[in-house]
This record gives sequence, structure tokens and C-alpha cells, in this order.
Amino acid sequence: MLMNMKELLEVAYKHNFAVGSFNVANSEFVRVVIESAEEKNAPAIIQIHPNELELVGDDFIAYVREKCKNTKVPMAIHLDHGSSVKDVMRAIRNGYTSVMIDASHASFEDNISITKEVVKLAHDVNVSVEAELGTIGSNEGSSEAGADEILYTDANDAKRFVEETDIDTLAVAIGTSHGQYKHAGKPELKLDLLAEINQKVGIPLVLHGGSDNKDEEISQTYLHGVAKINLSTDMKSAFFQEMRRFLTDNRGAYEPDVIMPSARKAAQEIVKQKMDLFNSTNKA
Ligand code: 13P
Ligand code: ZN
Ligand code: NA
Repeated sequence: MLMNMKELLEVAYKHNFAVGSFNVANSEFVRVVIESAEEKNAPAIIQIHPNELELVGDDFIAYVREKCKNTKVPMAIHLDHGSSVKDVMRAIRNGYTSVMIDASHASFEDNISITKEVVKLAHDVNVSVEAELGTIGSNEGSSEAGADEILYTDANDAKRFVEETDIDTLAVAIGTSHGQYKHAGKPELKLDLLAEINQKVGIPLVLHGGSDNKDEEISQTYLHGVAKINLSTDMKSAFFQEMRRFLTDNRGAYEPDVIMPSARKAAQEIVKQKMDLFNSTNKA
């Protein structure tokens, strides 16, 4: 069942769980997410970043829509890190049911004004909007990039931002980075700050950089307003690690139907674990 992300996240917010939002860039990953969600009876979001859209092409979204329409569990198709009104328009035209506008690198006032413009466009056609305040860190290799330095979200700014823009959900910076924490080690998330932001804004929050964190911290976030957790790296690396192993052990292999299944299964195991960790299992 395909829907707008707002309704999905409101339920999660109210019932203290987070919906996993998984980055996909081919049909194998679409299957990974949908089959995991159905096995776990968990709602899920398929998100596609502009770089990923470049790879798959616009008409791929029609295929994702068809797949999501026929699931037993609620699903949304979300634009991850849209950087301009143009990205957002393209996503809406393609049939995404939700968009993110990430103007977190602009000034506070500019972030407000571009976000407002996107909200106006998107809400008109029943598409939900996520925006970001503060900056998520970046680690080498992640296509979502991020900032060299994390700027933590300020709770009072967040309150004003949400009031002025009328967004449906806010991405907050509380210490995570995109990708794996290769050099730095796992961060300590600022859960007190998260609780303060949640108290002030009162709308569902989003945690980016969901991979490679401490499980005991992740399971605190949805008790303090996080209703969506973005996950890319852990799923993709499970897929390609298994594929690398398979290709090394089977040097002559070249048929996709021979090579893909074990990689898909490895990714699916991770996604199902994350659904348990996010407390979204059996919440569909
Ligand atoms: P990870 O790669 O750390 O899971 O982050 C994903 C993300 O935030 C996509 O927007
Ligand atoms: Zn992100
Ligand atoms: Na991460």
C-alpha cells in the first residue's frame, strides 16, 4: 500500500517506533526492502537520492510505485536529500509520495525560505516534506556526503523553523554521520538534545546516518520523537560484501540469477534486523 509519509510517521511518532527508510538504486534493493517489510509486517520507506535517480533513471520510479501499491504493508517513496526546487519538482513529476529538501548548508533564513517554497508546492499535490536543520557528518565513500563538521541542531531554532515552514517532519543533527565511522569510532549521540528538540517542536523527527551506530543509542531515539531512521550503508555493504565473497569463490560466475540471490539475502538479513532494532516489526 503506497502512501504519503506524513500519515506513516504520525503513527510511528505516537507509538514510539521508527520507520526504516532505505536507500535503493536498483530493483534488487527494492525487493530487499519490500520482502523484508512483508516478512516483518513492518511499514517501510523506499528512498532514492538524486545521485541514485541519476543511475536508475526517472522511469524506474513507475516500477517502484507499482511494487509499493501491491504490498500488504504501508510504504512511501521518498526523495532523499533533494537539494533544490528542481530536484523536488522532478521527484513529484516521477510520482514520489514524499520529498526532502536539504538546504541545511544555507543560512537559517534561506533554509526557511526555500523550505517554505517546497512545502507550498508539495502539499498542494499531497506530497509530504522533510527538511533539515543542522548538519549530518560525512564519512568517506557515502554518496549522500554531508558536512566535515557536525553542527548540532539548536532546539529553539528548530521550533521557529517548524512553525514558519509547516514541514511534516524534521531531520535533526545529534551526532550521526553518513556512512561508516572508519577513523573516528562510533559517535555518542546527544539524546538530551534530541529530547529537548522533540519537546519544543512536537512533530515526527528523522535520524540520518543510521548505519554503524550503537544499538543501545538507536533504541533510545524513537522514545524521543524519532519516527524515521535513514539507513543506507549497512544494507548496501552487506549486499556487496556477500557479492564479493561469492564472486571470489566462483570466479567463472556471470549470470545475475546465480550471483544476486545470496547478496540479496545478506542485505535482507540486515534490513530485518534493523526493523527489529527500530521497533517497527509488527507495526504495519
Ligand atoms: P547511512 O549511510 O549512515 O545509513 O545514512 C543514510 C542516510 O542518512 C541517507 O540519507
Ligand atoms: Zn541522509
Ligand atoms: Na552512519
